[in-house]
Amino acid sequence: MNEQLRIEHLSKSFLVNNEKLDVLDDINLNIDKGEFISIIGHSGCGKSTLLKILAGLTGYTVGSVKIDGKELRDSADSAKCCMIFQDHRLLPWKTVRQNIAFGLYEDDKSEENINSYIEMVNLKGFENAYPHQISGGMAQRTAIARALVRKPEILLLDEPFGALDALTRIEMQKEVLNIRSYNHTTMILVTHDIDEAIYLSDRIIVTSNRPAAIKKEFKVELSRPRMRTDSDFMRLKSKIFREFFDTYSK
Ligand SMILES: Nc1ncnc2c1ncn2[C@@H]1O[C@H](COP(=O)(O)OP(=O)(O)OP(=O)(O)O)[C@@H](O)[C@H]1O
Ligand SMILES: [Mg+2]
Repeated sequence: MNEQLRIEHLSKSFLVNNEKLDVLDDINLNIDKGEFISIIGHSGCGKSTLLKILAGLTGYTVGSVKIDGKELRDSADSAKCCMIFQDHRLLPWKTVRQNIAFGLYEDDKSEENINSYIEMVNLKGFENAYPHQISGGMAQRTAIARALVRKPEILLLDEPFGALDALTRIEMQKEVLNIRSYNHTTMILVTHDIDEAIYLSDRIIVTSNRPAAIKKEFKVELSRPRMRTDSDFMRLKSKIFREFFDTYSK
Protein backbone atom coordinates (compact mmCIF):
# COMPACT_ATOMS: atom_id res chain seq x y z
CA MET A 1 0.00 0.00 0.00
CA ASN A 2 0.91 3.64 -0.35
CA GLU A 3 1.97 4.45 3.21
CA GLN A 4 2.14 8.14 4.08
CA LEU A 5 2.28 8.34 7.84
CA ARG A 6 4.05 6.00 10.23
CA ILE A 7 3.78 6.47 13.98
CA GLU A 8 5.94 4.14 16.05
CA HIS A 9 6.15 3.81 19.82
CA LEU A 10 5.06 7.41 20.26
CA SER A 11 4.69 8.44 23.89
CA LYS A 12 4.25 11.92 25.25
CA SER A 13 4.09 13.50 28.67
CA PHE A 14 3.68 17.04 29.89
CA LEU A 15 5.12 18.55 33.03
CA VAL A 16 2.27 20.00 35.08
CA ASN A 17 3.21 21.61 38.42
CA ASN A 18 6.50 19.75 38.27
CA GLU A 19 4.69 16.45 37.93
CA LYS A 20 4.87 14.24 34.89
CA LEU A 21 1.52 13.79 33.17
CA ASP A 22 1.55 10.87 30.73
CA VAL A 23 -0.72 11.62 27.78
CA LEU A 24 0.22 9.23 24.96
CA ASP A 25 1.34 5.68 25.59
CA ASP A 26 3.18 3.76 22.89
CA ILE A 27 1.04 4.71 19.92
CA ASN A 28 1.70 2.66 16.78
CA LEU A 29 -0.26 3.56 13.67
CA ASN A 30 0.37 3.47 9.94
CA ILE A 31 -1.84 5.45 7.61
CA ASP A 32 -1.98 5.17 3.82
CA LYS A 33 -2.29 8.10 1.47
CA GLY A 34 -5.95 8.99 1.00
CA GLU A 35 -7.17 6.96 3.99
CA PHE A 36 -9.84 8.32 6.34
CA ILE A 37 -9.13 7.47 9.97
CA SER A 38 -11.28 8.35 12.97
CA ILE A 39 -10.08 8.36 16.54
CA ILE A 40 -12.63 7.93 19.33
CA GLY A 41 -11.69 8.23 22.98
CA HIS A 42 -12.65 9.68 26.31
CA SER A 43 -12.30 13.39 27.01
CA GLY A 44 -8.82 14.35 28.15
CA CYS A 45 -7.17 11.10 27.02
CA GLY A 46 -4.74 12.73 24.58
CA LYS A 47 -6.43 12.85 21.15
CA SER A 48 -5.82 16.54 20.48
CA THR A 49 -2.25 16.13 21.66
CA LEU A 50 -1.73 13.42 19.04
CA LEU A 51 -3.11 15.65 16.27
CA LYS A 52 -1.04 18.61 17.52
CA ILE A 53 2.12 16.50 17.28
CA LEU A 54 1.26 15.64 13.67
CA ALA A 55 0.58 19.32 12.92
CA GLY A 56 3.93 20.31 14.43
CA LEU A 57 2.20 22.34 17.14
CA THR A 58 3.70 20.33 19.97
CA GLY A 59 6.90 18.31 20.14
CA TYR A 60 7.65 14.70 21.07
CA THR A 61 10.69 13.00 22.47
CA VAL A 62 9.78 9.32 22.68
CA GLY A 63 9.10 7.32 19.54
CA SER A 64 8.97 8.23 15.91
CA VAL A 65 6.57 9.98 13.54
CA LYS A 66 7.38 9.81 9.85
CA ILE A 67 5.60 11.50 6.98
CA ASP A 68 6.62 10.11 3.62
CA GLY A 69 9.52 8.39 5.32
CA LYS A 70 10.97 11.51 6.96
CA GLU A 71 11.04 12.03 10.72
CA LEU A 72 8.70 14.89 11.50
CA ARG A 73 10.80 16.59 14.14
CA ASP A 74 13.76 16.85 11.78
CA SER A 75 11.93 18.32 8.83
CA ALA A 76 9.37 20.88 7.79
CA ASP A 77 6.97 18.09 6.81
CA SER A 78 4.35 19.06 9.36
CA ALA A 79 3.55 21.72 6.73
CA LYS A 80 1.94 18.85 4.82
CA CYS A 81 -0.60 18.68 7.66
CA CYS A 82 -3.29 21.20 8.37
CA MET A 83 -5.48 21.16 11.45
CA ILE A 84 -9.11 22.17 11.86
CA PHE A 85 -10.03 22.86 15.47
CA GLN A 86 -13.29 22.36 17.34
CA ASP A 87 -13.88 26.10 17.38
CA HIS A 88 -13.42 27.80 14.02
CA ARG A 89 -10.74 30.26 15.21
CA LEU A 90 -11.54 32.78 12.44
CA LEU A 91 -10.19 36.29 12.75
CA PRO A 92 -13.26 38.39 13.68
CA TRP A 93 -12.03 41.53 11.93
CA LYS A 94 -11.55 39.76 8.59
CA THR A 95 -14.18 38.65 6.08
CA VAL A 96 -14.76 35.07 4.98
CA ARG A 97 -12.56 35.66 1.93
CA GLN A 98 -9.81 37.40 3.93
CA ASN A 99 -9.82 34.65 6.53
CA ILE A 100 -9.40 31.99 3.85
CA ALA A 101 -6.62 33.93 2.11
CA PHE A 102 -4.82 34.96 5.29
CA GLY A 103 -1.13 34.10 5.30
CA LEU A 104 -1.08 32.56 1.82
CA TYR A 105 1.66 33.22 -0.68
CA GLU A 106 0.74 35.93 -3.22
CA ASP A 107 0.39 33.36 -6.01
CA ASP A 108 -2.23 31.42 -4.06
CA LYS A 109 -4.17 34.54 -3.11
CA SER A 110 -5.66 35.01 -6.57
CA GLU A 111 -9.39 35.69 -6.59
CA GLU A 112 -9.94 32.68 -8.81
CA ASN A 113 -8.16 30.34 -6.42
CA ILE A 114 -9.97 31.62 -3.33
CA ASN A 115 -13.31 31.53 -5.18
CA SER A 116 -12.87 27.86 -6.02
CA TYR A 117 -12.57 27.04 -2.31
CA ILE A 118 -15.49 29.31 -1.40
CA GLU A 119 -17.58 27.35 -3.89
CA MET A 120 -16.29 24.03 -2.66
CA VAL A 121 -17.65 24.68 0.84
CA ASN A 122 -20.85 26.30 -0.45
CA LEU A 123 -20.23 29.84 0.78
CA LYS A 124 -20.76 31.70 -2.48
CA GLY A 125 -22.51 35.01 -1.72
CA PHE A 126 -21.00 35.25 1.78
CA GLU A 127 -17.38 35.93 0.86
CA ASN A 128 -17.54 39.49 2.20
CA ALA A 129 -19.38 38.68 5.42
CA TYR A 130 -17.61 38.87 8.79
CA PRO A 131 -17.60 35.89 11.18
CA HIS A 132 -20.29 37.43 13.42
CA GLN A 133 -22.58 37.70 10.37
CA ILE A 134 -22.55 34.01 9.49
CA SER A 135 -23.87 30.89 11.23
CA GLY A 136 -21.74 28.43 13.21
CA GLY A 137 -21.86 25.90 10.37
CA MET A 138 -20.79 28.55 7.85
CA ALA A 139 -17.93 29.64 10.11
CA GLN A 140 -16.80 26.04 10.40
CA ARG A 141 -17.00 25.69 6.59
CA THR A 142 -14.83 28.82 6.30
CA ALA A 143 -12.33 27.18 8.61
CA ILE A 144 -12.39 24.06 6.41
CA ALA A 145 -11.78 26.19 3.29
CA ARG A 146 -8.96 28.01 5.09
CA ALA A 147 -7.32 24.66 5.74
CA LEU A 148 -7.97 23.21 2.26
CA VAL A 149 -6.64 26.23 0.34
CA ARG A 150 -3.25 25.34 1.78
CA LYS A 151 -3.58 22.04 -0.09
CA PRO A 152 -2.61 19.89 2.87
CA GLU A 153 -1.70 16.32 2.12
CA ILE A 154 -3.04 15.35 5.52
CA LEU A 155 -6.06 17.07 7.04
CA LEU A 156 -6.38 16.80 10.82
CA LEU A 157 -9.91 17.35 12.04
CA ASP A 158 -10.24 17.82 15.81
CA GLU A 159 -13.96 17.42 16.60
CA PRO A 160 -14.68 20.02 13.92
CA PHE A 161 -18.46 19.57 14.04
CA GLY A 162 -18.85 19.23 17.80
CA ALA A 163 -20.56 22.58 18.22
CA LEU A 164 -23.00 22.11 15.33
CA ASP A 165 -26.60 20.90 15.41
CA ALA A 166 -27.29 17.36 14.17
CA LEU A 167 -28.61 18.37 10.72
CA THR A 168 -25.77 20.80 9.91
CA ARG A 169 -23.39 18.18 11.13
CA ILE A 170 -24.71 15.63 8.62
CA GLU A 171 -24.42 18.23 5.82
CA MET A 172 -20.84 18.95 6.84
CA GLN A 173 -19.97 15.26 6.86
CA LYS A 174 -21.25 14.97 3.29
CA GLU A 175 -19.17 17.98 2.33
CA VAL A 176 -16.04 16.47 3.84
CA LEU A 177 -16.59 13.34 1.72
CA ASN A 178 -17.12 15.50 -1.39
CA ILE A 179 -13.91 17.36 -0.71
CA ARG A 180 -12.12 14.11 -0.18
CA SER A 181 -13.31 12.79 -3.51
CA TYR A 182 -11.92 15.93 -5.21
CA ASN A 183 -8.56 16.03 -3.51
CA HIS A 184 -7.83 12.51 -2.20
CA THR A 185 -6.58 14.14 0.98
CA THR A 186 -5.65 11.84 3.85
CA MET A 187 -7.92 12.68 6.77
CA ILE A 188 -7.60 12.00 10.48
CA LEU A 189 -10.70 12.88 12.47
CA VAL A 190 -11.11 13.02 16.23
CA THR A 191 -14.76 12.58 17.14
CA HIS A 192 -16.93 11.28 19.97
CA ASP A 193 -19.73 10.47 17.53
CA ILE A 194 -19.68 6.79 16.54
CA ASP A 195 -22.20 7.39 13.71
CA GLU A 196 -19.97 10.08 12.26
CA ALA A 197 -16.92 7.84 12.49
CA ILE A 198 -18.67 4.95 10.69
CA TYR A 199 -20.18 7.22 8.05
CA LEU A 200 -16.82 8.75 7.15
CA SER A 201 -14.00 6.37 7.93
CA ASP A 202 -12.03 3.55 6.42
CA ARG A 203 -10.75 2.67 9.88
CA ILE A 204 -11.78 3.61 13.41
CA ILE A 205 -9.32 3.67 16.29
CA VAL A 206 -10.63 3.43 19.86
CA THR A 207 -8.22 4.75 22.47
CA SER A 208 -7.94 4.03 26.18
CA ASN A 209 -8.28 6.57 28.95
CA ARG A 210 -5.25 8.80 29.52
CA PRO A 211 -2.53 8.05 28.71
CA ALA A 212 -4.08 7.23 25.36
CA ALA A 213 -3.10 3.86 23.96
CA ILE A 214 -4.72 2.21 20.96
CA LYS A 215 -7.28 -0.22 22.38
CA LYS A 216 -8.94 -1.46 19.26
CA GLU A 217 -9.11 -0.87 15.56
CA PHE A 218 -12.18 -1.40 13.38
CA LYS A 219 -12.02 -1.60 9.61
CA VAL A 220 -15.18 -0.13 8.09
CA GLU A 221 -15.89 -2.24 5.05
CA LEU A 222 -19.35 -0.87 4.24
CA SER A 223 -19.85 0.34 0.68
CA ARG A 224 -20.25 4.10 0.07
CA PRO A 225 -22.42 6.13 0.20
CA ARG A 226 -23.31 4.77 3.60
CA MET A 227 -26.75 4.74 5.13
CA ARG A 228 -27.01 5.19 8.87
CA THR A 229 -30.14 3.05 8.91
CA ASP A 230 -28.62 0.02 7.16
CA SER A 231 -28.46 -3.09 9.28
CA ASP A 232 -24.69 -3.52 8.71
CA PHE A 233 -24.14 0.07 9.79
CA MET A 234 -26.16 -0.45 12.96
CA ARG A 235 -24.41 -3.74 13.70
CA LEU A 236 -20.98 -2.11 13.50
CA LYS A 237 -22.24 0.78 15.61
CA SER A 238 -23.31 -1.47 18.44
CA LYS A 239 -20.03 -3.42 18.19
CA ILE A 240 -18.01 -0.21 18.55
CA PHE A 241 -20.31 1.09 21.24
CA ARG A 242 -19.78 -2.10 23.24
CA GLU A 243 -16.02 -1.85 22.82
CA PHE A 244 -16.07 1.77 23.80
CA PHE A 245 -18.34 1.14 26.74
CA ASP A 246 -16.30 -1.87 27.88
CA THR A 247 -13.12 0.17 27.66
CA TYR A 248 -14.47 2.79 30.01
CA SER A 249 -16.43 0.63 32.37
CA LYS A 250 -13.30 -1.24 33.48
N1 LIG B 1 0.29 22.08 26.76
C1 LIG B 1 -0.09 21.28 27.76
N2 LIG B 1 0.54 21.34 28.96
C2 LIG B 1 0.18 20.51 29.95
N3 LIG B 1 -0.80 19.59 29.87
C3 LIG B 1 -1.46 19.50 28.71
C4 LIG B 1 -1.15 20.34 27.60
N4 LIG B 1 -1.97 20.02 26.58
C5 LIG B 1 -2.77 19.04 27.03
N5 LIG B 1 -2.46 18.73 28.31
C6 LIG B 1 -3.09 17.67 29.11
O1 LIG B 1 -3.01 16.47 28.39
C7 LIG B 1 -4.17 15.68 28.57
C8 LIG B 1 -4.74 15.34 27.20
O2 LIG B 1 -5.21 16.54 26.57
P1 LIG B 1 -5.84 16.52 25.12
O3 LIG B 1 -6.24 17.90 24.82
O4 LIG B 1 -4.91 15.84 24.19
O5 LIG B 1 -7.11 15.58 25.37
P2 LIG B 1 -8.30 15.17 24.36
O6 LIG B 1 -8.32 13.68 24.28
O7 LIG B 1 -8.18 15.93 23.12
O8 LIG B 1 -9.59 15.64 25.21
P3 LIG B 1 -11.00 16.23 24.67
O9 LIG B 1 -11.77 15.05 24.10
O10 LIG B 1 -11.63 16.74 25.92
O11 LIG B 1 -10.71 17.29 23.67
C9 LIG B 1 -5.11 16.50 29.45
O12 LIG B 1 -4.99 16.01 30.76
C10 LIG B 1 -4.57 17.91 29.36
O13 LIG B 1 -4.77 18.59 30.56
MG1 LIG C 1 -9.37 17.46 22.28
